Amino acid sequence: MSVIDKCASYTRAREAKAAGLYPYFLNFDGRDAGTARMADGREVVMCGSNDYLGLSTDPRVVEAAARAAERYGAGCTGSRFLNGNLELHDQLERELAEFFGKPAALVLTTGYQANLGAIAGLCGPGDIVFLDKEAHASLIDAARLSRAKIQWFAHNDTDDLRAKLSRVAGTADCMVVVDGVYSMEGDLCPLPELVEISDEFGATLLVDDAHGGGVLDKGRGTSSHFGLTTSVPLITLTFSKAFGSIGGAILGDEEVIDYLRHNARSLMFSASASPSNTAAALESLRILQAEPWRCGAVSDNADFMRRELTALGYEVGASQTPIIPVEIGDGVSTLLAWNLLIEQGVYVNAVLPPAASPRLRTSYTAAQTEEQLHRAVAGFRAVRDQVLRVPAHV
Ligand SMILES: Cc1ncc(COP(=O)(O)O)c(C=O)c1O
Repeated sequence: MSVIDKCASYTRAREAKAAGLYPYFLNFDGRDAGTARMADGREVVMCGSNDYLGLSTDPRVVEAAARAAERYGAGCTGSRFLNGNLELHDQLERELAEFFGKPAALVLTTGYQANLGAIAGLCGPGDIVFLDKEAHASLIDAARLSRAKIQWFAHNDTDDLRAKLSRVAGTADCMVVVDGVYSMEGDLCPLPELVEISDEFGATLLVDDAHGGGVLDKGRGTSSHFGLTTSVPLITLTFSKAFGSIGGAILGDEEVIDYLRHNARSLMFSASASPSNTAAALESLRILQAEPWRCGAVSDNADFMRRELTALGYEVGASQTPIIPVEIGDGVSTLLAWNLLIEQGVYVNAVLPPAASPRLRTSYTAAQTEEQLHRAVAGFRAVRDQVLRVPAHV
């Protein structure tokens, strides 16, 4: 047996394609913030991107990216550590630290790498990383990479965390790792209790704010939403969602960021974020400060969809954010619903285990127009009787 032998017997994807129910790697031929054109020419209302503020196609952001490519080239061809650092990266760090209210920031090439850098850069054998059961894959991978011991606690269950931390307090250095906003459920972490428990047991709290940064509290994120920015020692961000670009950052105290600058392997051994991606993130950061209405608009759009989907009889969970999960049933019914919605001109994400239990992950943006949202509602209404087992009451 070799390590590649299992590939020949991996037939799940091929079977799903043959059944016309393969929801991954779809080609999009073009898009604006609220709609997308599929490769076969169909236009769909995009209810599945993370472009929360509608900035990825904003002409100012696109223009900033183009100018940076013209000035610095298409890529930096090296890590920031050696030859890939630009004034743009440094400038973005200064403006991120100031906006998010932390002493310092470190810009990395993706949010995934920000998590790897922060957790594996600070934790090692002998330490313990406490992970929420629903933590993002990048946080799990980071904890595994660190070679620290991993202790899981039940999702958002601070009693479980407290019990587990109290058992090891004083015997190891501990980090508590959570998402600010959970990417599949759209629910928030119980930050005040997490801060209190981490402080009580001397654990370092890290909040991955990939989905809260740029969105909650006029963009200042989950920690600011709870008024706890100074009490959270480490915050990680991505630029691939509200910032409409690619890249990531770690926010923290000066000496921690300086340590990571010289010890985070995902920063030191990977090429820096491209000039255009960095300039786009910087431009988005400036726009979101100048146009805080965008955070209100995405929240209003999501509230509208939450109300409409609930009224149609869909089960939408406990989300308070632009991410709204829609429960349909098992994997096959979820895929069938996903397919029917595309036929109605509505694109959502079909999520299957192991990412999460089967659901449609819907998400909304500040740039969606009323007309687009009504089209999305009409799509959900049209397929409802085919995809929901519960009797319709609207
Ligand atoms: C919670 C969370 N953290 C981190 C990441 C990784 O971000 P990036 O796309 O910048 O690598 C994601 C993206 O899927 C995410 O949802």
